[in-house]
Amino acid sequence: MTTLKPRPATRSWAEPWKVKMVEPLHMLTADQRSRAIAEAGFNTFLLRSDDVYIDLLTDSGTNAMSDWQWAGMMLGDEAYAGSRNFYNLEAAIQKHYGYRFVTPTHQGRGAENILSQICIKPGDYVPGNMYFTTTRHHQEAAGGTFVDVVVPEAHDPRLELPFKGNVDLKALAALIEKVGAKKIPYVCVAATVNMAGGQPISMENMKAVRALTKQHGIRIFLDATRAVENAWFIKQREAGYAGKTVAEILLEFCSYSDGCTMSGKKDALVNIGGWLALNDQALYEEASSLVVVYEGLHTYGGMAGRDMEAMARGIVESVQDDHMRSRVGQVEYLGEKLHGWGVPVVRPIGGHAVYLDAKAFYPHIPQDQFPAQALAAALYEDSGVRAMERGIVSAGRDKVTGENHHPKLELVRLTIPRRVYTQAHMDVTAESVAAVWDERKKATGLEMVFEPKHLRFFQARFKRR
Ligand code: F0G
Repeated sequence: MTTLKPRPATRSWAEPWKVKMVEPLHMLTADQRSRAIAEAGFNTFLLRSDDVYIDLLTDSGTNAMSDWQWAGMMLGDEAYAGSRNFYNLEAAIQKHYGYRFVTPTHQGRGAENILSQICIKPGDYVPGNMYFTTTRHHQEAAGGTFVDVVVPEAHDPRLELPFKGNVDLKALAALIEKVGAKKIPYVCVAATVNMAGGQPISMENMKAVRALTKQHGIRIFLDATRAVENAWFIKQREAGYAGKTVAEILLEFCSYSDGCTMSGKKDALVNIGGWLALNDQALYEEASSLVVVYEGLHTYGGMAGRDMEAMARGIVESVQDDHMRSRVGQVEYLGEKLHGWGVPVVRPIGGHAVYLDAKAFYPHIPQDQFPAQALAAALYEDSGVRAMERGIVSAGRDKVTGENHHPKLELVRLTIPRRVYTQAHMDVTAESVAAVWDERKKATGLEMVFEPKHLRFFQARFKRR
């Protein structure tokens, strides 16, 4: 008689959903891929999506919606003013994020534009826990200067710490001391920190930022784009929160801020949309009178009624613990696999993406020859997996001197869309990264041959050196 192997003591977990509709994938031949990436100027943003096999460019707007969200799309009230879906969205944001006043925007940067314009005066300083591309752009366009106050540990890809997205309280206090509170319209706190590798900020740190800024009458605005993922990390890593739900943690976290900008295309499980939320009525009135200039009436802000309904329902689904366990769990699965094989990735694994350390991949390529850009191109050539550069190209130029910023982190982001790919897709991706790692010594750098004026990483073109 054959004996059965002993069963594991704990059971595996799986996604809390099953698949109802599928979208076929295609893979080009190696020759076709080489041609496609050269035609795209070695910029993965310029590839056609039809030429991509597994698309890990971004988790933004790439989510799969649930049947409940799709059902909501049929209930779109496409009235110009006062759509019922706006009130559903407003109620979902008030319930789960806790802010008082809400206006939709077409996506996150729409909200950033409005907030920057109403709060920032020329000569102001806006501290933040690391820059984000569009956020800093709008702060600078309004005449502000972004000041990085993330903890120094965030710039070290190897350090294994639970909250590498925290604000450096000493650096923030020093800035307040140096320029004065009057020159700081608000602190911009991002949860999680995208450019640091999707690293979270702790509740304790958020409370401390609140305490410090309160003494000086400085507001805090949250970039809540991935705040639900941040809440999941707090539940996993911070003492006192294991027994709380993600929804409870999110609400407490937001309560230490005065409002938020939001790209609904991430946490909120939709393909388009965002919002600006504020607690101060006078500020909201200013915001809503500017929303009509840039986005649309304050009850739709550039969104269709059906899209607002999908986002309202997406918010409800996003704060479920089961959803977050599987969402962040999938990212960790890919990251830990690569780490286990000795591939250099940012540690610990973040919430929405695995970040390859391009400096460690290609130590022989100087940063001015764009190692992360070259690595993203090499990965596409190997397998049709599309990733994104998050290094010197994304960092852009200093607004005063015009010199390139040289960020310490030179990364390639494998960003996982929510509820889209399976574990097998993660395995194929990991195998392709491993193949590129094996060939790393042969890699060469790139030269930028076209540089757009704004947010250059989106449209810059390169050639091989
Ligand atoms: N803030 C963060 C932290 C983001 O990651 C993004 C977008 C935005 C703001 C802007 O939101 O795209 O809706 O206008 N991040 C995308 C990404 C583009 O791929 O990381 P948006």
